[in-house]
Amino acid sequence: MNYIPQIPQWGEKYIERNLDDLVDYHKWLSLTGIKTGLISAKDEQTIWDEFIVHSLYFAKIIEDHKEKKEIFDLGTGGGIPGIPISIVRSEKVTLVDNKKTRIFELQRLIRTNRLKNVVAKEENAIKLIKSNKNCIFTLRCYLSSLKLIKELVQPIKNSLYLVSSSKKKTLKTDELFHVKQEKFLINKTEYRFIDVITVR
Ligand SMILES: C[S@@+](CC[C@H](N)C(=O)[O-])C[C@H]1O[C@@H](n2cnc3c(N)ncnc32)[C@H](O)[C@@H]1O
Repeated sequence: MNYIPQIPQWGEKYIERNLDDLVDYHKWLSLTGIKTGLISAKDEQTIWDEFIVHSLYFAKIIEDHKEKKEIFDLGTGGGIPGIPISIVRSEKVTLVDNKKTRIFELQRLIRTNRLKNVVAKEENAIKLIKSNKNCIFTLRCYLSSLKLIKELVQPIKNSLYLVSSSKKKTLKTDELFHVKQEKFLINKTEYRFIDVITVR
């Protein structure tokens, strides 16, 4: 192993219970993921910290939310954050991407690694956010919170939107949306942000 499967204190329980499955997914991302262009070439530690640990914080927010809901990972690419979420959570996760080749690779991974409660679907995410009710939507490096809100012309009550953000809070709560930003460590020194958006 050329990396340390570390996690800050907030996520220790996820690693303790699911290390083997998370390490298998990391291996797939590092080999197949890079070879098939699902992710760009990166060292193994970066893949662990930026993809696995970052994804697990989405799972932590979902756990804190308490209500069990179906999860849709929009613009999933290589299954980020949907696959790590499905490994540590029991809700059904649907990985959504509009590129056939990405969905094909993800379906192969799901079969080979015998991943449960996760499916991959080729679909237009923009259509999907407008048609589903009472779900959790995760978006990592796909749409910004601002762009997402522009797409949600008729916001769906009770849905929860978790959107990765590169900056400190840019979006404000208004009469339609409640926005809370979570800041967390992905290793000893680096922080990341996720916008937690609910419809008021
Ligand atoms: C920058 S990648 C991010 C992938 C992954 N979520 C991550 O964090 O590494 C954006 C992904 O969104 C997908 N995508 C772009 N437009 C889409 C759409 N309208 N519906 C579904 N997926 C879309 C692309 O094919 C790509 O895989």
